[in-house]
Amino acid sequence: MTTTAKIAELPRTPAAHDAHDAWDALVQADRVHRRVYTDEDIFAREMNNVFAATWVYLAHESEIAQANDFKLAWIGLREVVVARGEEGAIHVFANRCSHRGATVCREHQGNASGFTCPYHGWRFDNRGQLFGVPGKNAYGPSFKSRGMNLARPAQVQSYKGFIFATLNPEAPPLMAHLGNAARYMDEWIDHNGGPENLRLAGAHRFRLACNWKLIWDNTADGYHVPFSHQSLLVMTNQRHGGGDMAYFADADRSRMSNNALDNGHTVIDQRPDMHRESAWRIQRPQPGREPYQDHVASAFGDRAQRVLDATAGAGMNLNIFPNLALIGNQVQVLQPLAVAATGVCFYATQRKDVDDAVNTMRLRTQEDFPVMGEMDDAANFEECQRGLASTPEDEWVDMSRHYETGKDLPAEDGIIRGPVTTDLSMRNYYAQWKRLMRAEPTLRMEKGNLS
Ligand code: FES
Ligand SMILES: [Fe+2]
Repeated sequence: MTTTAKIAELPRTPAAHDAHDAWDALVQADRVHRRVYTDEDIFAREMNNVFAATWVYLAHESEIAQANDFKLAWIGLREVVVARGEEGAIHVFANRCSHRGATVCREHQGNASGFTCPYHGWRFDNRGQLFGVPGKNAYGPSFKSRGMNLARPAQVQSYKGFIFATLNPEAPPLMAHLGNAARYMDEWIDHNGGPENLRLAGAHRFRLACNWKLIWDNTADGYHVPFSHQSLLVMTNQRHGGGDMAYFADADRSRMSNNALDNGHTVIDQRPDMHRESAWRIQRPQPGREPYQDHVASAFGDRAQRVLDATAGAGMNLNIFPNLALIGNQVQVLQPLAVAATGVCFYATQRKDVDDAVNTMRLRTQEDFPVMGEMDDAANFEECQRGLASTPEDEWVDMSRHYETGKDLPAEDGIIRGPVTTDLSMRNYYAQWKRLMRAEPTLRMEKGNLS
């Protein structure tokens, strides 16, 4: 039975009769069926239709800054090597030997001009081209024409240092995919020193027992904050006498907004509250804050306030569907592993144009989030998965907040904006998810010689 035929059996509730097809039945205007989080066939289709057929984020150029640097990355479940060649160009190829399929790269990252497969010793350069086969004389004339290089995704493009790839040769250019989210990316990057100064630093990695979309649902969820993150509220009040309280009062009356961007991307823009005066001043307490502030005041004189503000987050949660989130001054990447298992990686960022004290403090801002805050969220993501899996008769996941209040409205720039707690962001990315899942995309990896 095909995946689509199996999915067509769902759901069993009366609302299904309004659906045009199985995908409409699963993803409705203001609710989604639980099986999009629990069904292995849907997950398998996502790995092709969502992760391979559209642009996914792989790595930041600063992680492979030097010639011959490389790191592993994933296009859904497909493991790839992202490498910088001798001449500086970026190459992406499957971590799958063209001989019998072994992985050719077994380090997470490093520096190498080529890769020798540990199994039979085939050698590839860091563009993925085969150049050495032990006992080559035993292979006949047809071997050469077979295309024995490592397989390359159909398209690879970077935007201001962020490297994306897709297996879909018909996918529109990366800029078209980013659409009006590029403007927010520009603003996030500028807050972090501009493309030439931004550098990804160490990562905080963990693995959660939940579907990747339970994490994605939360990337622009302004509703959960005062409940899930009460410990931050208590800490802020006790140690700091307040601070950034916009989420903890009546969040929908704040100046923050929740924005539906092109192609399923979303952004919560906190800047109208957070950056109204000084982002530094309203930050939650961080260890080492006072000595740092004194150091900056004496070292930077007139520029002190600007330097302090540079340690604070960019004031937005910008989510580039399906796997990249720029949150505060961190870069979050999702890696689906199985229907109920997801890898999460939070990269700290540094600026090359500031002194070490600023970068140290930028790291310390992460000690409340993600170190503390993300654990609050992680517990809820895993408990959602348990709840959804345990009671199949209760079929629906709600995303109707502000669906009927008339508060999600198109603004002058054409972007639909809503109050910060709206589920607009979830409805927006699910519309894109449905478009992708319904399609029958071409997926291709190339093995011919590079010119
Ligand atoms: S599997 Fe790589 S050389 Fe044989
Ligand atoms: Fe959260």
